Amino acid sequence: MARTAFGPIKRIDLARTEAHGALRATLSWPHLVALGVGAIVGTGIYTLTGVGAERAGPAVILAFAVAGIVCACAALAYSELATLIPTSGSAYTYTYSVLGETLAWIVGWSLILEYSLACSTVAVGWGGHLVGWLQSAGVALPHAFLAGPHDGGLVNLPAVLVSLAVAGLLMAGTRESATVNIILVAIKLAALTVFVIFTAPAFNADNLTPFMPYGFASHVEGGGTKGVMAAAAIVFFAFYGFDAVATSAEEVKRPARDLTIGIIGSMAVCTIIYMAVCLSAVGALHYTTLANSPEPLALVLRTLGHPAASHLVALAALIALPSVILVMMYGQSRVFFVMSRDGLLPGIMSRVNARTGTPMFVTGLTGIFVAIVAGFFRLDEIAELANAGTLLAFIAVGVCLIVLRKTRPELPRVFRCPAPYLVGTLTVIGCLYLMISLPGMTLVRFALWNVIGLAFYFIYSRSRSRLATGQGGEG
Ligand code: ALA
Repeated sequence: MARTAFGPIKRIDLARTEAHGALRATLSWPHLVALGVGAIVGTGIYTLTGVGAERAGPAVILAFAVAGIVCACAALAYSELATLIPTSGSAYTYTYSVLGETLAWIVGWSLILEYSLACSTVAVGWGGHLVGWLQSAGVALPHAFLAGPHDGGLVNLPAVLVSLAVAGLLMAGTRESATVNIILVAIKLAALTVFVIFTAPAFNADNLTPFMPYGFASHVEGGGTKGVMAAAAIVFFAFYGFDAVATSAEEVKRPARDLTIGIIGSMAVCTIIYMAVCLSAVGALHYTTLANSPEPLALVLRTLGHPAASHLVALAALIALPSVILVMMYGQSRVFFVMSRDGLLPGIMSRVNARTGTPMFVTGLTGIFVAIVAGFFRLDEIAELANAGTLLAFIAVGVCLIVLRKTRPELPRVFRCPAPYLVGTLTVIGCLYLMISLPGMTLVRFALWNVIGLAFYFIYSRSRSRLATGQGGEG
């Protein structure tokens, strides 16, 4: 069995890799761009724009550009690995095959944060839009059930309910079809276009000065984390979900061309849309008005006197955001599933229900975890922790890309990342910079999460690993 200093490594299944790309090749780049935009556009732009504006001022536009560039590099690295190691588990599986089990565990444990907390974040974002939408329609609801204890309430019930509802759909075997995805992409993009059309005429250049009131680097100011990088570290959330594109690689007609265009294309489309939306928002109203609003885009439209457009944007968010939760929760159940199949998590987590064909137990468990976090915690704090987990996974992907090019240059790569050493290095450095730009408290929480994870690994998982005990694919 092959090993590194970080434990055993999994064999890369070349038979699958070679078959990969030759199967059911029906997708080309326009499909991939739609898939990417469908999975990517969500609470990041609809809600976190306000948090970003509070941290960076009008330069939140720049924050979106920085996060977009780093994510584009990570996405290219992801694509090469996704086509080379086409098994579930994404960054966890790549790390297991390249760097060793202990590091794979840390990445898998981080992916739990990425997927679960991203679901919670989107659920809270959805709740914010529901409440804003109902209140602007004159429906008064008791505050105790609309906000967590951090905001003077008891529980954020809308966020809890949407989390449980999506978990229920997944448990029943629901998948988002390509047609539903196209419809939702159209709704999301139409709403953002409506937003730009209605806010552009109110553009006032005075609102953009000073452009960078808190400077570039992340730092603590006035009790909060400020600066363009502090904003980039949170609006980074707006870009992930592109793994959906990377993992669809086996169905792509011409991977080299279609994946490059699909990934760079969906990132470029999202970055341009995000920057246009931000520019319109901070150009129309002073950034302090947007700061920390639970539904900043709808708020801008209401403040400018466009109640119908505001309703429409909120409605689009209400319709489209649950699909982002669906994709992320599905990703989470797959990560648990693979880690359990590898023997690192209890076997019950990879049990599939005979009737629905879905991993019922683990999906239910994820739904409950997501609902609890969404019900009781603050949106920005959840998103930051999700980002910390994601950034670690992206760093691992960047490292795996570089290491595998060095150690296994002969492997048949269906998709070859352009300028791999440069892209890999930019991914690692960019993600590290974003990571250290997160608030100190988030980094402490992230470290604690990993301490718990490693304790679990050394007490439970290491001795049960199928690979280490000679039952899994050897390296
Ligand atoms: N990128 C996704 C969103 O913004 C997770 O909701």
